Amino acid sequence: MTKPETDDVISQPQPRLLAAADWADYELLDSGNGLKLERFGRYSFVRPEPQAMWAPRLGADAWNADGRFVPGQGRAEDDEEGGGWTLSPDLPEAWQVGYDGLRFLARPTPFRHLGFFPEQAPHWRWCAARIAGFAARHGRRPRVLNLFAYSGIASLHAAQAGAEVTHVDASKKAIAQAFENRDTAGMQDAPIRFITEDATRFVEREIRRGRSYDGIILDPPKYGRGPKGERWRIETDLVPLLDGCRQILSDTPRFLLLTIYAIRASSQAAHYALSDVMAGAGGTVSSGELVSVESQPEPRVIAQANYARWAPEDQEPANG
Ligand SMILES: C[S@@+](CC[C@H](N)C(=O)[O-])C[C@H]1O[C@@H](n2cnc3c(N)ncnc32)[C@H](O)[C@@H]1O
Repeated sequence: MTKPETDDVISQPQPRLLAAADWADYELLDSGNGLKLERFGRYSFVRPEPQAMWAPRLGADAWNADGRFVPGQGRAEDDEEGGGWTLSPDLPEAWQVGYDGLRFLARPTPFRHLGFFPEQAPHWRWCAARIAGFAARHGRRPRVLNLFAYSGIASLHAAQAGAEVTHVDASKKAIAQAFENRDTAGMQDAPIRFITEDATRFVEREIRRGRSYDGIILDPPKYGRGPKGERWRIETDLVPLLDGCRQILSDTPRFLLLTIYAIRASSQAAHYALSDVMAGAGGTVSSGELVSVESQPEPRVIAQANYARWAPEDQEPANG
């Protein structure tokens, strides 16, 4: 007897997909052919997006953007620093955008992005709700630590929501950008401490001083350097830093929020690529992650690869 066809589907919570829902000043207009077309305020930009393995839907006119990032030639594919912008002469050096009543600056940077990460907006609101909840319950501002804080939108948003913020970044240039954003937001008097320091060193120092925070945000890069040349590598340094963060959480903590870009693709990319190929064929594309599961009680699940698969049935059976 042939064994019934079963794929080894395990029951795990689906990854949640968070996206900023109502942002007038930011829009992903189209994507495809390894590129994405976005709008930041009045201006549109084309940036590389290796996951966009499908066809764009808008015509060439729409893709005629105000700025286009052209990756460097002969560099490793994932070298985020190679290449540069081709910009319209009409594009200002920086311009204002807004979110939740907060004004801040967009500008093309040598690192392919526009000075902030719009996809993080759901995090800002999530933190704001927790900050407001804390203030209502405890009758004081929560202390929020923002590590690898870059241009500071999360810090400003948290302060606007009622937090007392400590903003830490290794780079003087990043801190200068955060100051510019603070001034653009008209938040010069907001309770934000800006600190130029290595994130790990800062946390170690806070442990020694016995300081604590009610909320911690961290968005570590894959590689980085502290101001004194301290080396940051996410593979080796993240867990000790998270341990440190745990130690400086207060007795009434409201959040610890980790964002990691070092893992790039989501299963959506494979899903759209296959959907394009199978368009018109009927059936269903389903997608997810291929995972390894620890052989222990309460096993952790580690994503190894994304998959997408098409089947002619309208609905794939639960185990198929
Ligand atoms: C926000 S993180 C990068 C995460 C980002 N979302 C991405 O696309 O990878 C970048 C910031 O971390 C800062 N940084 C890098 N190494 C650091 C370190 N050792 N300590 C503190 N900040 C650091 C950089 O100066 C930069 O402003």
